Amino acid sequence: MSGDDIYYKGDDEYWKAYREGRPSVPDSYFQRIIDYHKENGGQFNVWHDMGAGSAVHTRRLSPNFKKTIVSDSGASNVEAAKSYLGDNSEAYVFRVAKGEEASDLEPSSVDLVFGCNMMHYTDVDETLRAVLHQLKPGGTLALGGFGLPIVLDEELQSLWSQMTHRRLRVTFEANRAASKLFIVASGPHDAIPFDTEHFRPGALRLKFNERDGWSWRRCMIPASLDEDIPYVTRFGEDDVVVHENNEDWNFEADVTVMRKILETFPMSPDPVREELWRQFQAKIGDRKVPATWPSSLTLVTKK
Ligand SMILES: C[S@@+](CC[C@H](N)C(=O)[O-])C[C@H]1O[C@@H](n2cnc3c(N)ncnc32)[C@H](O)[C@@H]1O
Repeated sequence: MSGDDIYYKGDDEYWKAYREGRPSVPDSYFQRIIDYHKENGGQFNVWHDMGAGSAVHTRRLSPNFKKTIVSDSGASNVEAAKSYLGDNSEAYVFRVAKGEEASDLEPSSVDLVFGCNMMHYTDVDETLRAVLHQLKPGGTLALGGFGLPIVLDEELQSLWSQMTHRRLRVTFEANRAASKLFIVASGPHDAIPFDTEHFRPGALRLKFNERDGWSWRRCMIPASLDEDIPYVTRFGEDDVVVHENNEDWNFEADVTVMRKILETFPMSPDPVREELWRQFQAKIGDRKVPATWPSSLTLVTKK
């Protein structure tokens, strides 16, 4: 299992479900990236949305820069990105390319690389090498990630997590050879090291909205899979890990919203999961219940 088999044929229907099921990312998240980049002396000429899919978040950062490179490994995703953004060659350069590939980009030509919800599909070491090739000294690598939501009601959260854990288990059992992917995805970026020979010491690892005993990882991985999918950290000794609750990510969960979240990614039929869904649906009824999104943002500067 890799990005190749999951995403290479993302069509309009695929990306519609994806956009509806993923969080409304608050402005404060992107502002955090811009603030970090400014504070570390970054410039605002060229940035690169790597693994951008159908340009899900591209417009959130592009107004800050003169030029935007939009890449994805899937040609159909880049087509979807073009039709979403408009084929404006003044502002956008579109590339069908893996994160691991950068030889077509000028060395030290990019001010900021943003990789959101995509690093786990790549060969991480190769991708970091490609990022270092393209980034200017003093440029920023920003890795974003949004996990699975937490419903702030104990009983509902228990049913919700049984459902998402069930789905993870079924996917993992069918793809045991891809355990690396699951390790990186469930970290979220904690298994990614930043070699201080190339990156400034002090990578900033921000973690939002892990609460009520629910970490990003535990929302995704059931405890029964902890041995198969271990929690791996490769923090540098100067890395700064910050946990914050951020209300901007809160939302009201109801049956329609939660079903859309469940259907973000195509699912194979599973009577066990659907029985859990029926129980969840019966318990939530027509209520709106507070919920939040664990998310993360990892920021590091090239030397
Ligand atoms: C979950 S989507 C994320 C899309 C968008 N960045 C976001 O955060 O919503 C993952 C994307 O990574 C892309 N992808 C998979 N393998 C990749 C690779 N090796 N290099 C770059 N992108 C890859 C997929 O085609 C897909 O569009």
